[in-house]
Amino acid sequence: MSENDTRSKVDDAISKVNEMGSRAEDAFRDFKESEAAEKLSEGIKRGARTAAEGVAKGAKIAAGGIAAGTKIASDTIRSNAEANAKKRASRKAAPFDQQSAFRTEGDDNKPIFRLRNGVVIPPIGYGTYLATEKGGKDVIRDALNQGYRYLDTARFYENEADIGEAVRESGIRREELFICSKVWPTMLGAEKLKESFEASCESLGTDYLNMYLIHWPKAGQSDEEWIPKLRESWTVMEDLYKEGRIRAIGLSNFLPHHIRPLLETARIRPMLDQLELHVGYMQEFTLRYLKHEKIMAQSWSPLGRAKMLEDDRIRSLAEKYGKSGAQILLRYLIQRGIPAIPKASTPERMRANMDIFDFSLTADEISYLSCIPEAGWSGEHPDLVEWG
Ligand SMILES: NC(=O)c1ccc[n+]([C@@H]2O[C@H](COP(=O)([O-])OP(=O)(O)OC[C@H]3O[C@@H](n4cnc5c(N)ncnc54)[C@H](OP(=O)(O)O)[C@@H]3O)[C@@H](O)[C@H]2O)c1
Repeated sequence: MSENDTRSKVDDAISKVNEMGSRAEDAFRDFKESEAAEKLSEGIKRGARTAAEGVAKGAKIAAGGIAAGTKIASDTIRSNAEANAKKRASRKAAPFDQQSAFRTEGDDNKPIFRLRNGVVIPPIGYGTYLATEKGGKDVIRDALNQGYRYLDTARFYENEADIGEAVRESGIRREELFICSKVWPTMLGAEKLKESFEASCESLGTDYLNMYLIHWPKAGQSDEEWIPKLRESWTVMEDLYKEGRIRAIGLSNFLPHHIRPLLETARIRPMLDQLELHVGYMQEFTLRYLKHEKIMAQSWSPLGRAKMLEDDRIRSLAEKYGKSGAQILLRYLIQRGIPAIPKASTPERMRANMDIFDFSLTADEISYLSCIPEAGWSGEHPDLVEWG
């Protein structure tokens, strides 16, 4: 084939392709303008609308289901949370409550402490050791005027006569008062104890005591006869209790190894043990033993003889609660289930020391204060002191 023939065939083919292209364009234009094209596009639109409606309906059903599921789940979570909160509230502070056995009435803020024999002990009493040195009976009058009805004394304090006079002059009925005194360890033994008890009653101007305690288990380290003397003294305490001359009999500064030999022969068990107890000297071992034997613990030197008042840990809690250091220390003891007998010299301090029932330390703060290292101890150990 010549070159000219080839060129003419190629030109034919090109013009055929162009013709087919323009026919296709015409056909497409015709189709676009035709009824079929309109129907097709409407069908597509309808399909899309139905599909969209379906999706919306499905989404609505799904959302409803999710909302219902969420409500059930949140109701369940809420009721579980409420049940757990109730459970938590019921065990509130329980691990820190040393003497719950004695807290029979009152509310958490102002508990009432009742001894095993039913006698009620005011949570805060007035401690009179060295209280009357300067002011004599006037200090006791101030304490009574500030509302104290519990007076803690001892033959050793040599202020029973001042107390007796202040009580007489106050006009307060004897039944309204709780008077506690103690027999000194050099006066143990049946006859001497009886003599000391009668002397206390006479000085105080009363024929009975609300509570009478054996002040220390022994007079000194060389006192080898302390156990028989103690047992003999206790029988006199029991007799006086049975006669109604003493409403509650107890001990002071007795550790478990002093109480155990007494319990072997006692017919009436001691009801209370007055011990040095304050933040920094909580004698946890003895407290556990007392709780086990159902003997109430009571705190002497609850402020650590003022040594604990300046402690930084006490100060920061005082700031938090808008209270004084003394009030924090006393509140701590009350929440531990331990009544206390602080001594103060001015009416303001006396009053403040009773104003501790309008706030509460948290369980964690009780734990924190219970776990601080030893601080403020008097140095008086019942096995090491020499009183003889
Ligand atoms: N059974 C026993 O062997 C035994 C041993 C010791 C004591 N106790 C008894 O326990 C009682 C209390 O013990 P305690 O007198 O040794 O020590 P305490 O009550 O722990 O502390 C008394 C000291 O704290 C000060 N104080 C009191 N309230 C205060 C306040 N609100 N703000 C600032 N300072 C305050 C007092 O000062 P001011 O006086 O200047 O106000 C005093 O210096 C004694 O009086 C006694 O009845 C028993």
